Amino acid sequence: MKTLQTDRSSDLSQPVATLHSNEQLKHGSNYLRGTIAIGLKNSLTGAVPGDDPLLMKFHGIYQQDNRDTRFERAQRKLEPAFQFMVRLRIPGGILTKTQWQGLDKIAAEFSERGLRITTRQTIQLHGIRKRQLQSCMRAIREIGLDTIAACGDDSRGVVCGANPALSEVHRKVAALAKETSQRLIPKTRAYPEIWYGEDAGNSRENEDPAYGPLYLPRKFKVGYAIPPNNDIDVYGQDLGLIAVLKGRELVGFNVCVGGGMGQLDTREDSYPRLAEEVGFVEADEAPMLAEIVMGIQRDFGDRKDRHRARFKYTLDRLGNAWFLQTLAERWGKPLEPARATARFTHNNDMPGWQRGDNGLWHGTLYIESGRIQGALQDQLMGFLQHYSGDIRLTPNQNLQLTNIEPYHLEQVQWRLDDLSLGDRLLPDSQAAHTLSCVALPTCGLAMAEAERYLPRFLGLFNRLKAIHGLQEQPMTLRITGCPNGCARPYLAEIALTGRAPGLYNLYLGGSYHGDRLNRPYASNVNEERILELLDPLFEQYANERRPGEKFGDFLVNAHLLDKTSAEQNIISFSQ
Ligand code: HEM
Ligand code: SF4
Repeated sequence: MKTLQTDRSSDLSQPVATLHSNEQLKHGSNYLRGTIAIGLKNSLTGAVPGDDPLLMKFHGIYQQDNRDTRFERAQRKLEPAFQFMVRLRIPGGILTKTQWQGLDKIAAEFSERGLRITTRQTIQLHGIRKRQLQSCMRAIREIGLDTIAACGDDSRGVVCGANPALSEVHRKVAALAKETSQRLIPKTRAYPEIWYGEDAGNSRENEDPAYGPLYLPRKFKVGYAIPPNNDIDVYGQDLGLIAVLKGRELVGFNVCVGGGMGQLDTREDSYPRLAEEVGFVEADEAPMLAEIVMGIQRDFGDRKDRHRARFKYTLDRLGNAWFLQTLAERWGKPLEPARATARFTHNNDMPGWQRGDNGLWHGTLYIESGRIQGALQDQLMGFLQHYSGDIRLTPNQNLQLTNIEPYHLEQVQWRLDDLSLGDRLLPDSQAAHTLSCVALPTCGLAMAEAERYLPRFLGLFNRLKAIHGLQEQPMTLRITGCPNGCARPYLAEIALTGRAPGLYNLYLGGSYHGDRLNRPYASNVNEERILELLDPLFEQYANERRPGEKFGDFLVNAHLLDKTSAEQNIISFSQ
């Protein structure tokens, strides 16, 4: 019988046949090739047949269908409107102007609904048809980008908080994020073979040494944060690295492990979890540490039960002491104790213009749900014609203009105003503290609307705040179409996660800067009920809060989320 064999873990062998079917699929895929190349040539269907869609995720591609047209097409005996979402790998979200212009062209040629900035600092293109996939992937390569491991059971795009151009420390951290991404991405030749038509070459032995033939049990997310800004939500990462500074020097990172948002409402043993701080690593060693930690999860993660396969569950099953000991064995030394570092104060993007230590200017444009299409897409392209700075995608789904020369700043502001983009220069508004995931119509897991519902809900939410005089008090608000948590809802002060069309679970009480999970407050509630539930809480907050006290903190401090107060609204989260 075939056994799980990876570089350093033959002692952990388990018969492949006893593992989850996804594991068997990976094992039999010849390092992520499967029959993808053949499926792409089949012009009788818009889909890629069999299990290949699961393998394509590792290549950054999701097979989807337009759920808005499913019923009508089924009635006409047509297959669903199959299409593909392509997610790029952009470590730290850093792009040149030329790359953005290239992406815009690619979107115009191949995708529907423009470009979407994701909550992990990258771009997704929706609605690409099968016959155009290879051309699209080659066009992405031409602008110096790729989509490797943007989805799948691997190390996802490495995120990097706070504008890297702000200071020397920020630049260093961004460079480490890029190095980490490079180190952790799969190295299989399947990607260039399938998408660029490159030669298969000779050797296929041990093609992906850091992964082995089974890759990871689930996705693995790494992120770098620089206090006081927790824009990446470092406690939601499998491996979070928090910059430790001595004066203006970067000395290293405090290491956090085991964060994760996803949960199933139907399983009690599935839950969001905050990453815990377990030690310190010197700056230059961080990428290597990331590889070792990923290797531990590769070898000890649950490969039988996918719902318990994330690193957070491995840690809860085996314990932090076990983890630290295993890490020390593999690394050859123990982790140093965590060091004192600056505190996080917020997780939103900074409003207005900011000046970096090298004199260059940076400003963030607000993009609702990260979606750039139609008039906005044209306005941005018009703006970029005469723009000489760079671009950064933020983990709050906004577009940052970076590295603007001082002499150019005034002109940039005029151009933004001329093109009606001036109002987007990030205000400190509620919108700038709000995230939503894609959900309908493309996400196959969505049970309720998120991105398309956000504008309406935000309007009602703002009105309710204004009634209580809270319009100047931003609160972190996140909406997702299901409990999976793609917009990091469980870290928000207020979150809605979809349960059915028009119905959401309401979570309250996360901290403003993302270091405390919120708690379930009401289940299966519609818009009217959500506002009804928030109304008295806003009133109490308006009247009783202490100076500077944030909404989430107030709810916790005033015991408004204690079980007895909240439980009446919760029918059952697992129903
Ligand atoms: C079992 C858990 C999860 C599943 C099955 C899942 C699945 C998906 C799917 C299918 C999409 C594509 C939606 C579309 O473009 O139409 C998506 C998007 C995304 N997911 Fe997840 N997801 C899960 C958990 C998470 C978690 C916990 C995070 C991060 C905290 C996350 C981050 C993202 C991001 C950044 C996107 C891109 C779109 C966006 O920014 O909203 N996912 N996910
Ligand atoms: S949270 Fe759910 S609905 Fe939203 S993108 Fe993720 S999987 Fe889809």
